[in-house]
Amino acid sequence: MQRRVIGPVLCEGESASNCANNMSLCFAGLILLFYLIFYMFLAGMFSFCIYGLLLTLSPYTPTYRDRGLFYLPGVMIRPYLHGFTIAFNVSEPSTWTPYVNSMHHFLQAYDDNVQEEKNIECPAGQYFVQDGTESEEKKACQFKRSQLQNCSGIEDPTFGYSTGQPCILLKMNRVPKNVNCAIQKGNESALKSVDFYPGNGTFDLMYYPYYGKLTHVNYTSPLVALHFTDVKKNDFVPIQCRLNGEGIVNNVTNDRFLGRIIFTLRSYNRE
Ligand SMILES: *[C@@H]1O[C@H](CO)[C@@H](O)[C@H](O)[C@H]1NC(C)=O
Ligand SMILES: *[C@@H]1O[C@H](CO)[C@@H](O)[C@H](O)[C@H]1NC(C)=O
Ligand SMILES: *[C@@H]1O[C@H](CO)[C@@H](O)[C@H](O)[C@H]1NC(C)=O
Ligand SMILES: *[C@@H]1O[C@H](CO)[C@@H](O)[C@H](O)[C@H]1NC(C)=O
Ligand SMILES: *[C@@H]1O[C@H](CO)[C@@H](O)[C@H](O)[C@H]1NC(C)=O
Ligand SMILES: *[C@@H]1O[C@H](CO)[C@@H](O)[C@H](O)[C@H]1NC(C)=O
Repeated sequence: MQRRVIGPVLCEGESASNCANNMSLCFAGLILLFYLIFYMFLAGMFSFCIYGLLLTLSPYTPTYRDRGLFYLPGVMIRPYLHGFTIAFNVSEPSTWTPYVNSMHHFLQAYDDNVQEEKNIECPAGQYFVQDGTESEEKKACQFKRSQLQNCSGIEDPTFGYSTGQPCILLKMNRVPKNVNCAIQKGNESALKSVDFYPGNGTFDLMYYPYYGKLTHVNYTSPLVALHFTDVKKNDFVPIQCRLNGEGIVNNVTNDRFLGRIIFTLRSYNRE
C-alpha cells in the first residue's frame, strides 16, 4: 500500500524517484498556496489603504483636477455630433439642421432669463472668490447667451450655417486667457476670418474659481463662440484652436484635447 504524507515524508513501497516526484509536486502546491494567500493579503491591504484615503477626502473639496486654476484644460466643441468633423451643404438644410438644433439645445441653459433667475451679475475682470464653509452653496455668475452676439442664435437662429459661416462653441474646464484659431496644416488662406465672442475670445476671471458641482450648483461654464465668417468652401479645412494662458500647455503633439482642439470644417456651397 502507498502512503503519501506531507511533512515528514514517508516513502514506503515506492521507488525513490517516484517519491521524489510526489514530493516536488506537493512542494509546488505549497508554494502556490503560499503565494495565493500572500497576494490576497496584499490586495486586502491595498483596498484598506484606498478606503482610508477616501474617508479622509471631503466630498466638498473638488479633486485636484477639478480645482487648480491652471490645471491643464480639456476642451470640447459644440455642436458635437459626428466627432470632430462638421460637414454640411448650405443648400440642403437637412444637412445642417442637426447642428443647429444641437446648438439651441446646448444653449438653453444660457438663455438670458434662465441666467437672470439662477445666477448673479458679477464685477468683470476679477476672480469671484467666495468665503464661507466648504459645504455652503456658492453663487455663480451670469453668462448670458446674448453675450455670444452673432453666434447666440438669437438674431440668426441658424448660427450662420445657412450662409456657410458656421458658429462653433468652445467649452473648457479651466481658465485660459483667450483663444485663437488657425489652419492646422495646409494652405493658410483657407481660413481668412474668424470672429470671437464674447470680447475677442477672452474669458473673464469672474467665472473662476469653480468650486465643484456639489456646491457650485448653478454654475455654467463660460463659452467662447467662434464665427467662421470666411472659410474655404467645398473642401476639408482642418482647424486648430488653441487656448492661451498662464501655465496652459497647448502643444503636446499626441494629445489633441490638451489646451487645444482640432476639428475639420466642410462647408459645401454652390459657387
Ligand atoms: C449640395 O446640395 C446641392 C443642392 O441639393 C447639390 O446640387 C450639391 O451637389 C450638393 N453638394 C454636395 C457636395 O453634396
Ligand atoms: C440656483 O438657482 C435657483 C433657481 O433655479 C435659485 O433658487 C437658487 O438660489 C440658486 N442657487 C444659488 C446658490 O445661487
Ligand atoms: C453681426 O451680424 C450682423 C448682421 O448679420 C452684421 O451686420 C454685423 O457686422 C455682425 N457683427 C460682426 C462683429 O461681424
Ligand atoms: C494658397 O491658396 C491660394 C489661393 O487658393 C494660392 O494663391 C496660394 O498660392 C496657395 N499657397 C500655397 C502655399 O499653396
Ligand atoms: C476686440 O478687438 C478690437 C480690435 O482689436 C478692439 O477694438 C475691441 O475693443 C476688443 N474688444 C474687447 C472686448 O476686448
Ligand atoms: C511647447 O511650448 C513651450 C512654451 O512655449 C515650449 O517651451 C516647448 O518646447 C513646446 N513644446 C513642444 C513639444 O513644442
